[in-house]
Amino acid sequence: MEDKKKEGRYERIYKQLESILVKTDDPLARMASICAVLHHKMDHFFWTGFYMLKSGKLVVGPYQGPVACQELEKDKGVCWAALNNAAPVVLADVHVFPGHIACDSRSKSEITLPLFNKKGEIVAIFDVDSDRVRAFNQVDQLALTSTLQLIYKAF
Ligand code: SME
Repeated sequence: MEDKKKEGRYERIYKQLESILVKTDDPLARMASICAVLHHKMDHFFWTGFYMLKSGKLVVGPYQGPVACQELEKDKGVCWAALNNAAPVVLADVHVFPGHIACDSRSKSEITLPLFNKKGEIVAIFDVDSDRVRAFNQVDQLALTSTLQLIYKAF
């Protein structure tokens, strides 16, 4: 998708989410709604979801798309890379990332972002897979970073 079109769509999604998320401050409910809206409005999203950091493990949380791995092997793959670096990872082609965990062989590119709570601790990793190569870039990273900030926002 062209960057301008992508930006416009992310802006509209952000506004829609603001009106949905105001109804509760429950983070899990907000995560679930964010997955549903993004997944159904973004053509390049094939799998959209959260891996929750629980007792040092990454365990699947709210998601939309094909059935995913329940738990991700520690320190392996793209989600763990985002967690260990406390920074987003944008991967143009999953096949060039050593240790990439393929929950579904149709995934071709990926973006992962840490979710920080109000104390600045990482509580989950947000992960989006695309069935197209080079689906994600800085536009996605910026927009998704803002979108994730809605989870702990006081409206
Ligand atoms: N590819 C991820 C695993 C999660 S699935 O893509 C849903 C990784 O390498 O961490």
